[in-house]
Amino acid sequence: MKADIDHWQWRVVMNQKRVLVAYGSKHGATAGIAAQIGQSLREDGLDAVVVPADDVDDVRGYDGVVLGGALYAGHWSGKAKRCAERNAEYLKHRPVWLFSSGPVDASAEEHEIPPVAAVSRQMELLGAREHRTFGGRVTSGTPGIMARAMVRAGKGGDFRNPERIQDWAHHISADLTAAR
Ligand SMILES: Cc1cc2nc3c(=O)[nH]c(=O)nc-3n(C[C@H](O)[C@H](O)[C@H](O)COP(=O)(O)O)c2cc1C
Repeated sequence: MKADIDHWQWRVVMNQKRVLVAYGSKHGATAGIAAQIGQSLREDGLDAVVVPADDVDDVRGYDGVVLGGALYAGHWSGKAKRCAERNAEYLKHRPVWLFSSGPVDASAEEHEIPPVAAVSRQMELLGAREHRTFGGRVTSGTPGIMARAMVRAGKGGDFRNPERIQDWAHHISADLTAAR
């Protein structure tokens, strides 16, 4: 208890921002991106918490929220979408950033890939600041017939680019810490 109070007091004195990084992931690739974002935010001195989107029931304790979801058959993760819907009332009043984890090719490196329709809708509803599409991951370890077929057709691989993910996270830190 004492440690909690000390931590809270320290955050207030230092004006340390608390950020929630939530993710909707089926096979871990999006969770990995969220973990990397959380780590970069912490390197910048923010108090970042990384949790599965399904576990998010209250965002009121956070100064900012980053929410990401995997793309499957052109749709954003249902877990991420439901998290956005469930918490909309409070997300609307905080800075929010959305991301998608997707393409298993180099396309996310070559140009900005716009959000799918459901994510665009959430961007509008929540007044989200930005969206990024990061490359995804499908490998021989990914379960499912479709994933196996993709890998067999030579379309697998890990296309998550740590540098691009870290750059975006540092940009979020700068944006949040500028808003005193
Ligand atoms: C059956 C299947 C369908 C997919 N559909 C899409 C898609 O429509 N758009 C896309 O960008 N990526 C698609 N992907 C790639 C996944 O989004 C990518 O692998 C993602 O990083 C997986 O995240 P997760 O491991 O967190 O579930 C698909 C992958 C599989 C296996």
